[in-house]
Amino acid sequence: MKALVAPSYGPLDQLVVTDVPAPRPGPGELLVQVEAAGLNPLDGALVTGAMRAMMPVEHPFVVGMDAAGVVKAVGEGVTGYEIGDAVVAYTHFHPGTIAEYTTVAVGPNVAKRPTGLDAVRGAALPATSLTAECIMAAAEAGAGRTILIIGATGGVGSFTVQLAARAGLRVLATATPADADYVRSLGAHDVIDYTSTDPVKEAQRLVGGRLDVVLDLINRGPALLDTADAVKDGGRLLSTLMGPETFERDITVVYVRMSAPEGKLQHLAERVAAGTLSVEVAATYPLDDAPKALAEFASGRYSRGKVVVTV
Ligand SMILES: NC(=O)c1ccc[n+]([C@@H]2O[C@H](COP(=O)([O-])OP(=O)(O)OC[C@H]3O[C@@H](n4cnc5c(N)ncnc54)[C@H](OP(=O)(O)O)[C@@H]3O)[C@@H](O)[C@H]2O)c1
Repeated sequence: MKALVAPSYGPLDQLVVTDVPAPRPGPGELLVQVEAAGLNPLDGALVTGAMRAMMPVEHPFVVGMDAAGVVKAVGEGVTGYEIGDAVVAYTHFHPGTIAEYTTVAVGPNVAKRPTGLDAVRGAALPATSLTAECIMAAAEAGAGRTILIIGATGGVGSFTVQLAARAGLRVLATATPADADYVRSLGAHDVIDYTSTDPVKEAQRLVGGRLDVVLDLINRGPALLDTADAVKDGGRLLSTLMGPETFERDITVVYVRMSAPEGKLQHLAERVAAGTLSVEVAATYPLDDAPKALAEFASGRYSRGKVVVTV
């Protein structure tokens, strides 16, 4: 089968689309014929080796963790899925979705794709919408609270803005002027141009004090100490990256790690199909252009939502 392959750890320009053996479904797994695969920042980090200590990969490495496709075979012991079922899936520690076929273990990382959710939007959904759900659980905040989202226009941010606004929070979101209307359309109440103003100071000016929750999807390490300035005493600072363990403030700091509670991906897929959650796809590339897709995604060319490879 054709797949996007990294022969070894190294720069993204070593990526090739080439033939590799198709995977076979093990016990409890589905073999999925991939129709579309969504890109995530982690894909590039696994190729370069930046995540080698935490998440080593074997080479040749087939890239990709998000997929939408059709079940072509079921492994021993699989129940609840049949050949021909349309699915969306997140393969996490077993990447390999930017390919003609991939395998996924039956469980919370796979869901049936409802009518009304096409493969491209389905492939854009799993990792980032599940992360947004984890963020909202970690926020422990409801209607009337304030949240600043730094990095609001990308994959994780675009879902979190929607979920937070739907939960009744006042959402302050960063965006360039070109994306201001977009992020408002997702539900942001206030838009902060991070290119011309400091979001931490501007958010406090807008709400007249510190905020209940601040989600930082951009800054890591000591830079999070500055972000923490925007959180009110007793409030919460959330990050999907890494940073200091101690903060000399009375705030709760949560480093959110994506997980998939049972049934959550199915629920998210159904919300998209029903039109109550929107998926923004900035660009699609055919499989033959997948090296270019990953390079352009990693370069920051696209600011809104997701980039998807069609197979
Ligand atoms: N811990 C976990 O389990 C987990 C799960 C998912 C993701 N993550 C991590 O979370 C981060 C966000 O993921 P993602 O999928 O949302 O990434 P993404 O799709 O690449 O989005 C990043 C967004 O940030 C914007 N941006 C860039 N620089 C900015 C700045 N200085 N201030 C404000 N916004 C800025 C970009 O738009 P512009 O064009 O405006 O720059 C883009 O929309 C990544 O580092 C990813 O690795 C972690």
